Amino acid sequence: MANSKYEYVKNFEADDRLPPSNWIVIRIDGVHFHRFSSIHEFEKPNDSAALHLMNSCASAMLKHFPDIVFAYGISDEYSFVLSEKSDFYQRRSSKNVSLFVSYFTSAYVTKWKEFFPNYDLKELPYFDGRAVCYPKVKVVRDYLAWRQVDCHINNQYNTCFWMLVKSGKTKREAQLRLKGTQTKEKNEILLQQFGINYDELPEMFKKGSCVFRNKVEEIVKRDESGNSVKRRKNIVTIDHVDIIGPKFWDEHPYILHEDRSMVNNNYGYVKKFEADDGLPPSNWIVVQIHSCDFYRFSSRHEFEKPNDSNALYLMNSCATSLLEKFPEIIFAYGVSDEYSFVLSEESKFCKRQASEIVSSFVSYFGSAYVMKWKEFLPDRDLKEVPYFKGRAVCCPKAKIVRDYLAWKQFDCHISNQYNTCFWMLVKSGKTETEAHLCLKDTQEKEKNEMLFCQFGINYNKLPEMFKKGSCVFRNKVEEIVKLDEGGISVKRCNEIVTVDHVDIIGPRFWDEHPYILHED
Ligand code: GTP
Ligand code: MG
Repeated sequence: MANSKYEYVKNFEADDRLPPSNWIVIRIDGVHFHRFSSIHEFEKPNDSAALHLMNSCASAMLKHFPDIVFAYGISDEYSFVLSEKSDFYQRRSSKNVSLFVSYFTSAYVTKWKEFFPNYDLKELPYFDGRAVCYPKVKVVRDYLAWRQVDCHINNQYNTCFWMLVKSGKTKREAQLRLKGTQTKEKNEILLQQFGINYDELPEMFKKGSCVFRNKVEEIVKRDESGNSVKRRKNIVTIDHVDIIGPKFWDEHPYILHEDRSMVNNNYGYVKKFEADDGLPPSNWIVVQIHSCDFYRFSSRHEFEKPNDSNALYLMNSCATSLLEKFPEIIFAYGVSDEYSFVLSEESKFCKRQASEIVSSFVSYFGSAYVMKWKEFLPDRDLKEVPYFKGRAVCCPKAKIVRDYLAWKQFDCHISNQYNTCFWMLVKSGKTETEAHLCLKDTQEKEKNEMLFCQFGINYNKLPEMFKKGSCVFRNKVEEIVKLDEGGISVKRCNEIVTVDHVDIIGPRFWDEHPYILHED
């Protein structure tokens, strides 16, 4: 099926490769094991057979997947650490996670009878999983320490809890008894009420289980003089040791060994750090740009409140420049200090890489803003540089683009109405706090009445640009190029970038310009 016209659908598959030179931890966790453990009558709080079964599956994992350097398990969860150098399935997160849960689950079912010879599996066990990246060995160790501390805290609580329940308390009573108790107090309850010395409980319950490759020396044969010939071997080992302190790691330095070597003086691998941020195909792209610190910028340049026409004309002129420069922009909508640019669903601009598209737009817009400043605000010097932030949003349907734009226009109306009232109140002598209080909870109608009665302003007669914001788009206009011999005009359709302040919430504008958001 190579190169078929359907191949484009491949682009929908997101690239989920995990960043290189990071340790990967895949943690899997039994789904609904609360129920699973009670159906299969696991002992409370710890069922040795169930834990040994988990450990045996983890051990099978280390034997099967050489990229796993360490595993740590408690209760129904297991964490698998992959080396920072691992290139297993090109580090694709979903592949790794799915393989791990799948292999682990199969092992669990296969080995069940070995650990529970007298119990049939009454329902299928299954696990969920996730991958997390840790850039340094220190963070991996802190992660494992966190899990081991959790193991200790849960185990101590659960041991007390179930002893109290077994001694006749209800679950509620047991919970209340343990509420707010510290480690020491719990140990005392165990010792005094039940004669249990917490420290003497099995290490597996207190410390969880570590699975790793232990380097052991093995006698392979004896030479002629009877001396033993040894070989170092990696044996997958299960142990229940402290991994919070340094001792275990000092004794097994090769497990989480940070790689400082450089392969063949080859620096090319750093390229892999560049994340692919390609936006999905067949989606409309909306790039929203927004001025940074505009409140300060507008005060320093004494913009009129609430709307400075010249500042808005400047914004519109910059947006027009963008449409003229980038044919892939099919529509733009601006209000106040922000502008949204719509790219067609088929656009291949910058290979749809979000950061490239967004940065090109904010940069070009910023340039235009500075260049055109004097044209729109000739009596003012630019006292500081304006700058804009931007982001890209994907809309899978034309309808969603329209709803996005309608939302923006609706917002424009609401803010404009509020701000017009607010600044009229302030100009009439109220403090800003008083003005806010005056407007609190007022409805649209009330605001219009206030404007009319107190200030003689008819809101509906305010400039369309203030009330509706600005739309920038290509208008198709017919132009008479020449007259033919019979005197009949020969026309040509021209596209002119146009700024207008029209309603884009209702269907009218879109019906009149069906080519703008035309769904392919
Ligand atoms: P999800 O993981 O969100 O699907 O829920 P879950 O029911 O699996 O709970 P969670 O993973 O938070 O906790 C694991 C649960 O498994 C514990 O609360 C126990 O109910 C049960 N469990 C795990 N190990 C043992 C065990 O050795 N004995 C008993 N009796 N129960 C266990
Ligand atoms: Mg679980």
